[in-house]
Amino acid sequence: MSIRVVIIGQGLVSNHFVVGLERIKYEGLEPYGVPLARYKLPYGIEDIEVVASFDVDISKIGKTVYDVAMKELGETIRIPDSLKKINIYQGVHLGSLEGLPIKARGLEEEKGSVVKAIDELVSILASLRPDVVINAATTEKAKAFHKVEDLIAAIKTDNRSILDAGHVYAYALYRYAKDYGKKVAMVNVIPTPLARDIAIEKMYEEASSIILGDDGATGATPLTADILEHLAERGRKVLSIAQFNIGGNTDFLALTVPERNKMKEETKSSIVRDILGYNVPNYIKPTGYLEPLGDKKFVAMHIWWKTFNGLEDELVINLRINDSPALAGLLVDLVRIAKALLDKDVKGTVYPVNAFFMKDPGPFGSHNVARIIAYRNLIEYLKGKGILYE
Ligand SMILES: NC(=O)c1ccc[n+]([C@@H]2O[C@H](COP(=O)([O-])OP(=O)(O)OC[C@H]3O[C@@H](n4cnc5c(N)ncnc54)[C@H](O)[C@@H]3O)[C@@H](O)[C@H]2O)c1
Repeated sequence: MSIRVVIIGQGLVSNHFVVGLERIKYEGLEPYGVPLARYKLPYGIEDIEVVASFDVDISKIGKTVYDVAMKELGETIRIPDSLKKINIYQGVHLGSLEGLPIKARGLEEEKGSVVKAIDELVSILASLRPDVVINAATTEKAKAFHKVEDLIAAIKTDNRSILDAGHVYAYALYRYAKDYGKKVAMVNVIPTPLARDIAIEKMYEEASSIILGDDGATGATPLTADILEHLAERGRKVLSIAQFNIGGNTDFLALTVPERNKMKEETKSSIVRDILGYNVPNYIKPTGYLEPLGDKKFVAMHIWWKTFNGLEDELVINLRINDSPALAGLLVDLVRIAKALLDKDVKGTVYPVNAFFMKDPGPFGSHNVARIIAYRNLIEYLKGKGILYE
């Protein structure tokens, strides 16, 4: 049985995801970068079937995933012809590309209201019949509603000043689940608080569905979390943490807009107190955009601490890492886990999954743990649910 997947945001992460999947399925590519590839799950990688995508960039709407992947990755990777079958539909915009040099148009502008845009989304979803929807759109300014009635009121009154695209997609998917009696999962790998929004968690629970999130943990953040755990376990007192990220992809360009960078900063720096148990002066955020670096970002890290007998040590790390494929690899497992958990009637959000895969794990009020610990906990949890075998 296949897992039907719909993607929101056909950018670099999603392009690596779909292209990498096809290469694993048909070209024998090794699944490196997929954390659970060495375990057996009820669904194999070959069972993942991407059926459609949503975007609001007018140069992408109406095209196929093949066209977009060709443009964004075609110079370095051969793009499989099979992606010509996957169409890109128009999604809701709600200002998520505002201030960027990209022409965007959303269903709410097309249809005249957010309510009508949601009706259209629900009817497209009904034709696509997804099991899992991935939100990998541009980082947007957003906040949690926490009360179901507040989210619904904002939608009904077309209050675009407080609505963000992530919440509207999450609501449309919930409506689809309710109206068509189908269990679904949403995997939110952007900072918009969805798994951490009590309202969304409640709605998904009510629809026997799952919301996983928020903000995929790739790159330097999980590494920092594991180093902090190492220092905490040895009783060292951390004095300061600096972590710079400079990249040349559109995600970094988007983060040059201060409100968006703030969303990332919040998710990244929450690890410090959670893992060490105390606050430390820190600078952990995407720092800049430098086009020639492309998707292979430059990360620098400096951590300074006090050790035994009052002496001080320092750690300095430099990395050049491919940004988008790191998240694409995690999506392969997130999709398989989400569907296997739906089959087991799990609903709401799932902390043991979020704690490993996400920077800011839901539900609301949850803490970060080092990824090395979260990984062990995840394996135990999945074994306990009967969906992971050695
Ligand atoms: N390692 C990583 O790359 C990483 C890690 C964690 C989180 N993320 C997050 O994943 C997301 C995607 O990253 P990317 O590098 O692919 O970015 P990208 O800019 O290449 O792609 C984003 C895509 O989303 C589309 N989009 C924007 N608003 C939309 C909307 N309202 N509806 C539908 N589509 C919309 C854009 O047109 C674009 O095609 C970002 O929010 C990023 O912060 C990435």
